[in-house]
Amino acid sequence: MKIFIDTSNINEIREFKNWGIISGVTTNPKILATDGNISNYESVIKEICRLVYPHPVSVEVTSNKCNEMVEEGEKYSRWYNNIVIKIPVTEEGLKAVKILSEKKMIVNATVCMSAHQALLAALAGAKYVSIFYGRVGDLGIDASQVVKDTVKFLSGIDAKLIIGSIRSVKDVVDSMLAGADIITITPPILKKMIQNPKTDETVKEFLDSWTKK
Ligand code: E4P
Repeated sequence: MKIFIDTSNINEIREFKNWGIISGVTTNPKILATDGNISNYESVIKEICRLVYPHPVSVEVTSNKCNEMVEEGEKYSRWYNNIVIKIPVTEEGLKAVKILSEKKMIVNATVCMSAHQALLAALAGAKYVSIFYGRVGDLGIDASQVVKDTVKFLSGIDAKLIIGSIRSVKDVVDSMLAGADIITITPPILKKMIQNPKTDETVKEFLDSWTKK
């Protein structure tokens, strides 16, 4: 079980790297926009790659035609050798996954909402497939079951299952129990994972006893 961080915020990545828990980073166009990193995204991505090297850093294409996705992917993969190209699981996307994978680039097939989409992406050559847990739930579908089905579908295929679109600590736990290889988590949810009032109470009780000795 591995944890990736789902952000392009350098300070947050540095902070959680210091926690010793991060095995990779995922970004997407909306994350870069929200973090104010559109105009400088090349330098931001390169800095993230340097910071977490050799762990993988996913960068998503911003086009939706196969040849443009391939061109973008080739450009990003020259930036650093821990870059992973994120390609959405559309018809054009699958063709791009195949081409980039045949050229030995590592692809993260993203925006999967079903086990069968994830299977197609993995068969096309993606080394990572990303199921969007929260967004699957928005459809009224049991996202944990989708994770379990995907684990079965990927059996015997050389592809890791990433769970993204995580909205709560419960989503993290349920995804882990359902068999995900990797959960990509935003900084606020990572912080919530360490917090527990009973822990705080106990630490305080111990320190109070010690200072009263
Ligand atoms: C995963 O790689 C994605 O970046 C991500 O988790 C997107 O989820 P959201 O847009 O539903 O927050």
